Amino acid sequence: MTTSRIPGFYNLTLHERHARLAEAAQQTPESLIPFTGPLPADIAMHMIENMVGTYSLPLGIGLNFMINGRDVLVPMVIEEPSVVAGASFMAKLARTGGGFIAESTEPLMIGQLQVLELKNIAEAAQNVLTHKAELLDQVDEGGSSLKSRGGGARDLEVRIMEDSPIGGFLIVHLIYDVRDAMGANAINTACERLAPKVEAITGGKVHLRILSNLTDKRLAKAQCTILVKELDFVGADGVRPFSGEEVRDGIIAAYAFAAADPYRAATHNKGIMNGVDAVVIATGNDWRAIEAGAHAYAARTGRYTSLSTWGKDRDGNLVGTLEMPIAVGIVGGATKVHPAAQAAVKLMGVITANELAEIIVSVGLAQNMAALRALATEGIQRGHMSLHARQVAIAAGATGDLIEKVAARMVVEKVVRIDRAEEILKNLQS
Ligand code: MEV
Repeated sequence: MTTSRIPGFYNLTLHERHARLAEAAQQTPESLIPFTGPLPADIAMHMIENMVGTYSLPLGIGLNFMINGRDVLVPMVIEEPSVVAGASFMAKLARTGGGFIAESTEPLMIGQLQVLELKNIAEAAQNVLTHKAELLDQVDEGGSSLKSRGGGARDLEVRIMEDSPIGGFLIVHLIYDVRDAMGANAINTACERLAPKVEAITGGKVHLRILSNLTDKRLAKAQCTILVKELDFVGADGVRPFSGEEVRDGIIAAYAFAAADPYRAATHNKGIMNGVDAVVIATGNDWRAIEAGAHAYAARTGRYTSLSTWGKDRDGNLVGTLEMPIAVGIVGGATKVHPAAQAAVKLMGVITANELAEIIVSVGLAQNMAALRALATEGIQRGHMSLHARQVAIAAGATGDLIEKVAARMVVEKVVRIDRAEEILKNLQS
């Protein structure tokens, strides 16, 4: 069985990390090679237009995750320090409370058709509903590969837009099960296939035919319980210790701020997306789609608010939940052609897109807790400081052992600046 616990991982060399990771995941070290190699140019050439090169970002491993009773090693691609460490530490705290319990809905995407030039919008809407079965058959007749895998058209809904800058119009929603695909191509093709029949039935003109990124029928939800004794915070020099109760109440107060105030909610949700996007990118999925869906969902009541909730259970333990739309796939697009994305999917051992969505939402919740715990105690800067100092040391020209030495010196001095890094480096080299 795979274990996500690899104590001391941080102190290993890159070579040793690969060996331990392969061992923990019960894979060959060769299966991890795509994580270090660049994306081959002949693949990149066919992914976008005018390709002139590739661009790398660090890929780290979120450790300690137990999701629905299964240990998972989570690949995370991100340029920001502290995210991978924060998520891994919170996943460790969550283990004693049973880890993350996650669930997801059926993978239902929504495709939209905008129907213009209607004499009677209400009558056209009724006609669409009357001919629903016929219209759904029309979508599936195209014989898409999703249909053979158990997906396909599920439902049609109508919405009347009473007023807009061009007046009223009809919106038809096609609800389409995309199984293990992200499904953008499938749903867009299905909308285009449906359009002529909708025109014939309504007498109107179908204008836009495109998926909605507010995939509120394709949700993933995670919950975790952190035992209050796990939350004791040992203060470093200059920072007082906090009891588990104080940390718990601090996290709940931080959540309340985000629940009530959109200015704070935007930052709070950004912290969630630090975790979410990192896994979405590692698996070759469309993170702009996930971002668009997340923030639209956060504003679904008409007021932008927190995507997560934090409270306490009867025993005084901290309980967190996160629910958000997660439209990701494991079979098509970049996930299929990018070797590192394929290695990432394999490392997690996911067999369905739903399982991947459940991992992603769990990582988002862990990352949210990491940010709130830091903010409710020592503040965010201390944790950021040492990794940030390393980046500044590299920018100042430090290499090898000198990176740690220059960074450590700046952290002690509490001055993390490129000019100071250059001075320290010069002294060390003289
Ligand atoms: C920084 O990338 C993310 C945080 O700002 C999130 C938050 O404030 O909750 C630390």
